[in-house]
Amino acid sequence: MSPVIALEGLAKGYDIAGGARLTAVDDVSLTIAAGETYALVGESGCGKSTLARMAAMLTAPDAGQVSWSGQTVSQQRRSAVRAVRDHTQFVFQDPAAALSPRLTVEEAVSEPLRIRRRTGSRSVADLLDDVGLDRSMGRRYPRELSGGQRQRVVIARALALEPKLLVLDEPVASLDVSVQAQVLNLLADLQAEHGLAYLLIAHDLAVVSSVADRIGVMYLGQIVEEGPAGDVVTTPRHPYTQMLIASVPAFVPGERGERPRVVGDPASPTERRTGCAFATRCAFATQVCLDVAPPRRELGDVAVRCHHAS
Ligand SMILES: Nc1ncnc2c1ncn2[C@@H]1O[C@H](COP(=O)(O)OP(=O)(O)OP(=O)(O)O)[C@@H](O)[C@H]1O
Ligand SMILES: [Mg+2]
Repeated sequence: MSPVIALEGLAKGYDIAGGARLTAVDDVSLTIAAGETYALVGESGCGKSTLARMAAMLTAPDAGQVSWSGQTVSQQRRSAVRAVRDHTQFVFQDPAAALSPRLTVEEAVSEPLRIRRRTGSRSVADLLDDVGLDRSMGRRYPRELSGGQRQRVVIARALALEPKLLVLDEPVASLDVSVQAQVLNLLADLQAEHGLAYLLIAHDLAVVSSVADRIGVMYLGQIVEEGPAGDVVTTPRHPYTQMLIASVPAFVPGERGERPRVVGDPASPTERRTGCAFATRCAFATQVCLDVAPPRRELGDVAVRCHHAS
């Protein structure tokens, strides 16, 4: 079966003040199948949102290709780009910012269809049902809802256009811990019901490890480790993944409370570099790491960009 979406060799840079060039995404390939959750984890600024925007054809890549259901989408074909944009919906961290205070829940959920002058196969009442909200909520305004209810409205609105891929960019980060699990469970139910592909973006490995099928760990624009979620979490191969895992107390048996966070600062994304981008922070770096950029290597089901991983 061909994946819903396949990204191949995507790259994106930005010209910034002072004539420098910033590398936001550098040679990233990944695929997501229907019903699959691919989690993208990495520090702020590593390129997660830029990658998601290229997948949705909202940002044109400098290099590489985006394919949907096995078909490469040309940036030049406006109708194809528009279709991809409708097939991808985003759910962001802050539902209050995503909803207009002047629209009722019902107006918000039906807004994407109104804008495209389309009728969906599902009514607003059905969509509210899908996300576990009572139909009577349709008359309310966002300020009259809790954070968790607002995020459910955002999800209902995202489903109105019957997308194939949901980009979930820190979807529970702004919610109370008690509500986070409910929203994650709802997303899992919706995925099973509609066969949705999820690109789940998060800083927090603990959040993604329980819901992801695959995990990609991103560092300065590249995926440095990728594999089935269980493998990545239990036997991380890349020193950066190991550092991330060690910083999550729940993953370290017998340990509670504060653990050392990831140490050091990432290299600047505007720096020209030879070798491995992580070498400056890596306890295991040797001369080859400074001289030669590590290629992507397959180790069983896992792919790693590290000279020393085995
Ligand atoms: N339009 C732009 N112009 C210039 N630089 C940009 C632009 N968009 C992103 N960048 C830069 O590209 C890099 C990647 O940004 P991106 O937003 O993709 O990171 P991110 O992983 O989503 O971070 P966060 O976790 O903070 O959301 C950053 O260094 C950012 O400053
Ligand atoms: Mg982002």
